[in-house]
Amino acid sequence: MFKSLIVGNWKMHGTAETAVKLATQLAEDWNADTVDSAVEMIVFPPFVHMSAVAAAVAKSAISIGAQNVSEYSAGAYTGETSAEMLVDQGCKYALVGHSERRAMQNESSEIVAEKFVAAQNAGLIPILCVGETLQQRQDNQTVEVVSGQIAAVIERAGLQNVCRAAIAYEPVWAVGTGETASPEQAQQVHSAIRAQLGEAGISTPLLYGGSVKAANAAELFAQPDINGGLVGGASLEAVEFLNIAKLIEA
Ligand code: 13P
Repeated sequence: MFKSLIVGNWKMHGTAETAVKLATQLAEDWNADTVDSAVEMIVFPPFVHMSAVAAAVAKSAISIGAQNVSEYSAGAYTGETSAEMLVDQGCKYALVGHSERRAMQNESSEIVAEKFVAAQNAGLIPILCVGETLQQRQDNQTVEVVSGQIAAVIERAGLQNVCRAAIAYEPVWAVGTGETASPEQAQQVHSAIRAQLGEAGISTPLLYGGSVKAANAAELFAQPDINGGLVGGASLEAVEFLNIAKLIEA
């Protein structure tokens, strides 16, 4: 069944108490009795709050994801977390290639591809994040940059495996800035991604991220190749995030 996804990336925010409170508020609203099962809600708490959040959403229809995953399966990698450990904590998804990690942790497309494979091999569903900087957009390189980021993962993991994951288009200039791609700008990139994946990617969920809020989500989600949202700041407020989630048409 084709799924639409609404994803909350909590980034490095909150305490155990606020994380559980937010998860509990979401779980009260988002359960099998109240929601369309074709729309899946996933929250990505900080690692240290993962098990508490997993417990808080256990009886709801909400899934848990990891904001990062090691490319290694085990060993002397101080501070890292393997895909197997995340599965063990109840994770179903993992973000790979978020622009903040590409920029601040120097994650290359090759490392992102290794993380993608490690996640998938352990049974996690990767959400591969791609997107161009403002300079790259101004230089008309948007589609080239995004398709190159995806091609690096296809080369390592294979097209069929990339199509079994989800891809999130997050223009770097729209992340955390209050600037959003117009629905037309977003759809143009999403349709290029769909074309790159070809026949195998007809049902691959393609998400948009970058300053999504309830006030702009409906127009974005109405685009034919946008199958949900990856939400940062607005996912930290339960009512706002639920309002965004309810704008997704499965
Ligand atoms: P904002 O919604 O805060 O712009 O963040 C988007 C994002 O980076 C989600 O991964």
